[in-house]
Amino acid sequence: KVKQLEHRTHYHFQPQKHWINADPNGPMYYNGIYHLFYQYNPYGAVWGNIIWGHSVSMDLINWKALQPAIKPTKPYDRHGCWSGSATILPGNKPVILYTGVVDENKTQVQNYVLPKNINDPYLEEWIKPDDNPLLVAEPGVNRTAFRDPTTAWMGRDGHWRILIGSRRKHTGIAYLYKSKDFIKWVKAKHPLHSKDRTGNWECPDFFPVAREGKKGLDNSMIEEQNVKFVLKVSLDTTRYDYYTVGKYFPEIDRYIPDNTSVDGWKGLRYDYGNFYASKSFFDASKNRRILWGWSNESDTKMDDVEKGWAGIQTIPRRIWLHPNGKQLLAWPIEEVESLRGHKVQLRNENMKKGDVVEIKGITAAQADVEVVFSFPSLDKAEPLHPSLDHLDAHELCSRKGSSVHGGLGPFGLLTLASGKLEEYTPVFVRVFKAKNKHKILLCSDASSSSLKKGLYKPSFAGFLDVDLAKKKLSLRSLIDHSVVESFGAGGEVCITSRVYPALAVSDNAHLYAFNNGSETVAIETLDAWSIKGPKFMN
Ligand code: FRU
Repeated sequence: KVKQLEHRTHYHFQPQKHWINADPNGPMYYNGIYHLFYQYNPYGAVWGNIIWGHSVSMDLINWKALQPAIKPTKPYDRHGCWSGSATILPGNKPVILYTGVVDENKTQVQNYVLPKNINDPYLEEWIKPDDNPLLVAEPGVNRTAFRDPTTAWMGRDGHWRILIGSRRKHTGIAYLYKSKDFIKWVKAKHPLHSKDRTGNWECPDFFPVAREGKKGLDNSMIEEQNVKFVLKVSLDTTRYDYYTVGKYFPEIDRYIPDNTSVDGWKGLRYDYGNFYASKSFFDASKNRRILWGWSNESDTKMDDVEKGWAGIQTIPRRIWLHPNGKQLLAWPIEEVESLRGHKVQLRNENMKKGDVVEIKGITAAQADVEVVFSFPSLDKAEPLHPSLDHLDAHELCSRKGSSVHGGLGPFGLLTLASGKLEEYTPVFVRVFKAKNKHKILLCSDASSSSLKKGLYKPSFAGFLDVDLAKKKLSLRSLIDHSVVESFGAGGEVCITSRVYPALAVSDNAHLYAFNNGSETVAIETLDAWSIKGPKFMN
């Protein structure tokens, strides 16, 4: 029992027990209610027997669990009801497309379900019409890598379009299918996009974003002026979500990434940590696009079985295009702020090299922290040794951890820390002088997070592309027992870490700010809140 509870999250979405690979399935806002479906094993805390769990919410924070929405019952989904998406058709009619697994070889087809009673506010029951499956892999298409249909969008010609993730040998593919009536689907001559040597594309997501401002767009708003497009794919070789920003040419149904974006594992990521199989949806009630993602456990399978649960959803994030047009920004939805309880703050506190400042008075295991650091100059930024210049952020972070002294940084937060710092998950910045620019590393380092052995404790990191002229850097972390979700520079780089401290649990967890660089750094503003648990009604 204790084991089950000590690392369980309190304000992140997770079912009462058993496995989820969140693959947020069919998220949507419909008639005043948010729906979240998820890949769920009703029999245990490991992957298998996959059905669609279903929960509803008025605010994306408090949830009510309903009966499963889709279960294997038919020859076309007998071996699993895998990921898919919702589309709201004209006349306000929701429809869900999902992947059915038909045999032991994992042959995949696409099916649809409709609400049994459109007047049920929760849309609790879903029916499988008789004309399923809608889509089977034709010759030449890899039928065991043919899955995860997207939300549909409508083209100028009045035809619906969806993507299905796939691969041919090592080439990742987003197949495009078109339909006039949503029932009869025809594969387009060319995929919307593909890329060699990227492996299978799981859970594709394709949507327009406004060039300016934070307003989200419906998937079918492809004709808007001043839009760009985002294509995201989940690469199962690395287990990360990558996206490109680019142009969509509706006349030829092709997508071409901008030259500032690259496909594959060197590309942009929604999150540089534990975050996979994500999906976004357009929230018409607040005109925003919201991103959900799955954060898997980093402990062992045995731990999961003992805990009785595995997998959480990250806090939903609003996403929009960065003013530089090259990447997205992401920020926790404002509703999470309704959970803020007791608040403490610091103003203009200097931290010299080696200083550690405790942030007292809040529940450090369940908190929201926003901080702005400032520094007098960039002069002390340490030169990046040429032998380290080629390293990716993750490797650089594992070599230059929070306790390795530097010039400008490392400075940041020590989250989920034990009282004597036997354990801590540092979230920190380190500025390097490289060739003719600065490299700014944001790191969320689980390597010191737990005294326990056998855990996966990666040093996750990303590079921030901010202008340091103002000599400030901001950071926000959402801390929830076994998860730390961090947002650098207003959401330019997001990193989610899963950690399992032995000592820094519940009331024994502490929160600190620290500086291990020779340049003095000021905590210009720091606001931290205890976070209350929302209602999860089962
Ligand atoms: C991604 C994924 C999907 C698939 C589902 C099965 O995590 O592998 O591609 O539909 O999970 O649970």
